[in-house]
Amino acid sequence: MLVTGGTSGIGLHTAMGLARLGAAVIVTGRDPERGHQAVREISSAAAAEGHPGVAQAAFIAADISTRAGVAALAAQVLAEHPRVDVLVNNAGAAAQSFRPTADGLELDLATNVAAPWHLSAALLPALRSAEAGRIVNLSGGSEGTALDTAALNVDASLRPLQMYSNSKRAAEAMTLELARRLAGTRITAVIVYPGQASTRMTQSVTPEMLDGWMRPLFPLFRRLVADDGGKSAAKASRSSIWAATDPALDGVTGRYFNAKCRPGRLHPSVEDPAVQAAVIGLVEGTWGVASWGPAAG
Ligand SMILES: NC(=O)c1ccc[n+]([C@@H]2O[C@H](COP(=O)([O-])OP(=O)(O)OC[C@H]3O[C@@H](n4cnc5c(N)ncnc54)[C@H](OP(=O)(O)O)[C@@H]3O)[C@@H](O)[C@H]2O)c1
Repeated sequence: MLVTGGTSGIGLHTAMGLARLGAAVIVTGRDPERGHQAVREISSAAAAEGHPGVAQAAFIAADISTRAGVAALAAQVLAEHPRVDVLVNNAGAAAQSFRPTADGLELDLATNVAAPWHLSAALLPALRSAEAGRIVNLSGGSEGTALDTAALNVDASLRPLQMYSNSKRAAEAMTLELARRLAGTRITAVIVYPGQASTRMTQSVTPEMLDGWMRPLFPLFRRLVADDGGKSAAKASRSSIWAATDPALDGVTGRYFNAKCRPGRLHPSVEDPAVQAAVIGLVEGTWGVASWGPAAG
C-alpha cells in the first residue's frame, strides 16, 4: 500500500495503522530524514503487532507539487512494486500565500488535485495487478462549501485558507471524475475526511491565512491544534485506514465518507459533472493529459 505524505501527521499514522494490519507500506515525502524515521516507526509498529515481515516498509523521496516529481515517483513505484493494492493520496499543501509552482499551477491546487489525479493514472498498471485496487483521496477545509472553479489558480485575493478549502473541494470533484474514469475496472476511488488534527500543516497556520472575521478566533484555533504527541493525528488516520481495508467498501466507488467513516454529502457544486470537467480541464491544461490506458482491468 502506498501512502503519499506518509512521513508525518495523519499520513504517518495511516501508514503505521496499515502496517499493524500486516500491509507492506511505501511512504513518500520530500524530506529523506523524515522518510527514514517514518520507515523505522512503521516497521516497529508492525513488529509490535507480530508482523515483522513488514520490515518491507519503504520510503521514496518525491516532490509531488510538480508534474516531473509525480512522474519520477510513479516510475520508481512501478519499477520496484509491480502491484499496489491501495493508493492513499494523503499528501497535502496549505500554502501561506498564493504560490504558483514552476509548472504554473498554484501550490495547493498542484499538490491536492493535480498530483493525485496524475499519480492515480500513472499507477494504474500496479493498481490493476491488485485483486481490487483502491484509491483513497483526502478531503479537508470547510466541508460543504461551494467549489469556485473561477477562483482556482487565479485568485490571489482569496485568503490562503479559502484557497486551500477551494482546492480540497476541487479534489473531491476530481475524485468523482476519477471514479467515473475507472468504472468498469476493479479499481475504486473514494474520498475521506480525516477530521481536525494537530500536525505540521495545522501548526503552520498563521492569522494572516484566515478571513478577517475569523482572526479573533485564532488563539482558540491554536489551542485546538496544540501539539498532542500525535494523538489527534492517529485518530484522524482512522477514516483512511478504514477506506483502505474494510471489506464493507468492496466495489464501492465515487463516494464520500466523513471522519466517522459514515457516508456524507458533498456540496452540489462538487457533484456537478460540468464543474468536475472544469477542474480536470484546468489541471490537464497545465500539466498535460493523464493517460488512462485500456479501459478494462
Ligand atoms: N490536519 C488536519 O486537521 C487536516 C484536516 C483535514 C484534512 N487534512 C488533510 O490530511 C492530509 C495530511 O495532512 P497533515 O495534517 O497530516 O499534514 P502534515 O503533517 O503537514 O503532512 C503532510 C505530508 O505531506 C507531505 N508533503 C507535503 N507537500 C508535499 C509535496 N509537495 N511533495 C511531497 N510530499 C509532500 C509531507 O512531507 P514533506 O514535508 O517531507 O514533503 C508530509 O508527509 C492532507 O491532505 C490535509 O489536507 C488535514
